[in-house]
Amino acid sequence: MRTLVVACLTTLADPRGACDTTPKVESADVPLYPPLSLRAPSGGTVEVATPVVLAPMAGITNPAYRQLCLEQGAGLYVCEMITSRGIVERNPKTFDMLAFAPGETVRSVQLYGVDPEVLARGTRIVCEELGVHHIDLNLGCPVPKVTRKGGGGVLPWKTDRLAAILRATVAAADAYGVPVTIKTRIGIDADHETFLDAGRIAQDAGVAAIALHARTVQEAYAGHAHWDRIAELVEAVDIPVLGNGDIWEASDATDMIAQTGAAGVVVGRGCLGRPWLFADLARAFAGLDPRPYPTLGEVAAMLRRHAELLAGLHGERWGLIDLRKHMAWYFKGFPVGGEVRRGLSTVSSFAELDDLLGRLDPEATLPADELGKPRGRQGTPRAHVTLPYGWLDSREVGDADLSDAESDVSGG
Ligand SMILES: Cc1cc2nc3c(=O)[nH]c(=O)nc-3n(C[C@H](O)[C@H](O)[C@H](O)COP(=O)(O)O)c2cc1C
Repeated sequence: MRTLVVACLTTLADPRGACDTTPKVESADVPLYPPLSLRAPSGGTVEVATPVVLAPMAGITNPAYRQLCLEQGAGLYVCEMITSRGIVERNPKTFDMLAFAPGETVRSVQLYGVDPEVLARGTRIVCEELGVHHIDLNLGCPVPKVTRKGGGGVLPWKTDRLAAILRATVAAADAYGVPVTIKTRIGIDADHETFLDAGRIAQDAGVAAIALHARTVQEAYAGHAHWDRIAELVEAVDIPVLGNGDIWEASDATDMIAQTGAAGVVVGRGCLGRPWLFADLARAFAGLDPRPYPTLGEVAAMLRRHAELLAGLHGERWGLIDLRKHMAWYFKGFPVGGEVRRGLSTVSSFAELDDLLGRLDPEATLPADELGKPRGRQGTPRAHVTLPYGWLDSREVGDADLSDAESDVSGG
């Protein structure tokens, strides 16, 4: 019998992070899927035994949620998006978001930025002062107030800026042996694709892996992710490609890998209200049969654990207020009466929460037809992507100041 290693860390410059060998799931002797190795140019490596990554999700993947997920399974758990400008300006709110849970032996941060120098400085600060082990760069945010200024998912169109950002961030992180990955989309829209160029530029810049959310910015979260484009990227680059988009069940993850050849998967909305998806993923990647879906009582216990972790982070009142946004996801499809649902959506103390959870039928099960259904943001494609004037005229932006694209940003 073998014990899975969640994420085994060996950075050259800083060997501070020991391997986390917490037993999560027992598996066969030979791994069915190779571990995901994220390698910095100088050789520092983060090795993720089960090639699964929790997608950065603004407002969701705070230390409490990451802790909850890592208690469930094996993988790499990335924090919410952090602006590099907030770091270099030492914004207290930004630093609050850079807290890590006690169980996080691998500290993984997603940075967002548009200026190579600011990103490099932000990278040095998080590596030097916070002991971060992995940096992901957000190059996929579809929010109009960001794309209007040339940031997020439309930035890769400007190949000169993309290359400069990646070179600067990789050089800054490599001084600490920290690998840098990027997360991007197919392109701005069907007529302005960027992912293949971005993949080659990333590879040349020493990026350790590229995650592709297989939609365009225009598609936002609508329709189905185009997994065939993930396969195309796998063919085009030599660095590991991580597939992202529409993994709702553990079997979707293994299907995506079978169909695309991706080196691993990034899971976002599928784990909303279902942190145990990471246990299911660990089982699937270890070749074990799926477990039955948790009963309503087990779901309530998981929600209670989430509440405790959030209260530890924000205090009881604000922790439970933060929990409200997760309620509908946890109980989606379960027989929970309207009165209890309404109560849960306004809960602000453990006394109220426990009273409401106590009214649920712990033996109730999820109807079979609820499995595999999308959850979280979906919506419809945008009529068009809001861009700076003349953005599409050239693939270069020179040294234009895009810093407005970094103010007032939250997630992608
Ligand atoms: C609420 C929410 C917040 C998100 N925030 C971020 C973010 O901060 N950075 C990022 O790269 N992607 C962000 N995303 C996109 C996800 O990381 C992921 O790429 C997307 O949801 C597609 O994967 P999925 O189908 O598994 O959800 C966010 C998505 C959601 C639903």
